[in-house]
Amino acid sequence: MATADENKRILLLSRPVGSPSADNFRIENAPVPEPSEGEVLLKILYLSLDPYMRGRMSAAKSYAKPVGIGDVMEGGTVAKVVRSRHPGFTEGDIVLSHSGWQSFALSDGRGLRKLDATRAPVSTALGVLGMPGFTAYAGLLTIGKPKAGETVVVAAASGAVGSVVGQIARIRGARAVGIAGGAAKCAFVRNELGFDAVVDHHAPDFPAQLAAACSDGIDVYFENVGGKVWDAVFPLLNDFARVPVCGLIAQYNDQPGSRSGPDRLPATMRDVLSKSLLIRGFIQREFADQFPDFHREASEWIASGKLRYKEDFVDGLENAPEAFIGLLEGRNFGKLIVRVAPAEG
Ligand SMILES: NC(=O)c1ccc[n+]([C@@H]2O[C@H](COP(=O)([O-])OP(=O)(O)OC[C@H]3O[C@@H](n4cnc5c(N)ncnc54)[C@H](OP(=O)(O)O)[C@@H]3O)[C@@H](O)[C@H]2O)c1
Repeated sequence: MATADENKRILLLSRPVGSPSADNFRIENAPVPEPSEGEVLLKILYLSLDPYMRGRMSAAKSYAKPVGIGDVMEGGTVAKVVRSRHPGFTEGDIVLSHSGWQSFALSDGRGLRKLDATRAPVSTALGVLGMPGFTAYAGLLTIGKPKAGETVVVAAASGAVGSVVGQIARIRGARAVGIAGGAAKCAFVRNELGFDAVVDHHAPDFPAQLAAACSDGIDVYFENVGGKVWDAVFPLLNDFARVPVCGLIAQYNDQPGSRSGPDRLPATMRDVLSKSLLIRGFIQREFADQFPDFHREASEWIASGKLRYKEDFVDGLENAPEAFIGLLEGRNFGKLIVRVAPAEG
């Protein structure tokens, strides 16, 4: 148990083989660091848990460097400036930071963005108004390019990215079909988010249900999942369909070579050619220059009720490993955020 004078930190102890477990993490209490001239001391209020962190736990070659063994786990945070020796920040400022899985952190101010708590709950800077919401906006509009009347399908539809994809598709006049796991998530996607249809990927006849929900085929598939969801979607793609490949969460715990089966690549490539498909992977940061437009539009949509969001809060930094393991199994319901400390005090 850390006191207010201790910095609780969660370190990567070992690299997972397959699904991560609690044994891959170590929780320790360290002294709260002292800011030097030009630095601020941040008290972390909220920690974002995101699927990309599974990649950072692995040493496999990727688009970003892995977390080192013994290092603090990486992560986006909302924090309060509790001591400032930096001219640009005063005590009490709330900032978006990338401070990782710990309760205090030092910063020289680079990469910090001040948040206005009177405009939106500050936790939204980690979700609907932050990286996941932006991922949905940039990937859907730049690559997916949905047109009015088209059918847009998105998996992990109740989650941070998928929920925004379907709602923007509807704002653009397209028909949004969600794929989600379980009755509660499906009801939320249909009734609260207003998607036109939703299909449960746990259903034994999931491919048939998806085909029935997409009777005119699929014009845009926003890929968040991979695996058996992709297998069900692929035959339904229309000529000139666009597929922004955003994530493959169903495959993140796979070990190299663990999936066997028939080689479907030749048949896939035949359809890519004969249907003139566009399949384009992306990492959201390549579209960073669109962030101001996204933030303005998404803020307006939230204010007018066109864009809804759901946050799934977990209390206590010590519960982050378990919550993160659950994210990779679909146990979260909405944008997963750890409440590390209360804003007051
Ligand atoms: N390219 C980029 O720049 C970028 C940026 C952000 C996120 N992403 C990707 O976007 C995707 C969604 O991320 P998010 O932050 O919005 O997470 P999220 O949807 O809030 O949470 C993950 C969801 O994925 C689904 N899931 C987990 N394991 C699954 C499995 N084995 N099979 C099928 N579904 C599974 C679960 O939903 P159900 O229970 O409904 O299945 C789970 O709730 C991830 O693949 C992530 O890596 C990419």
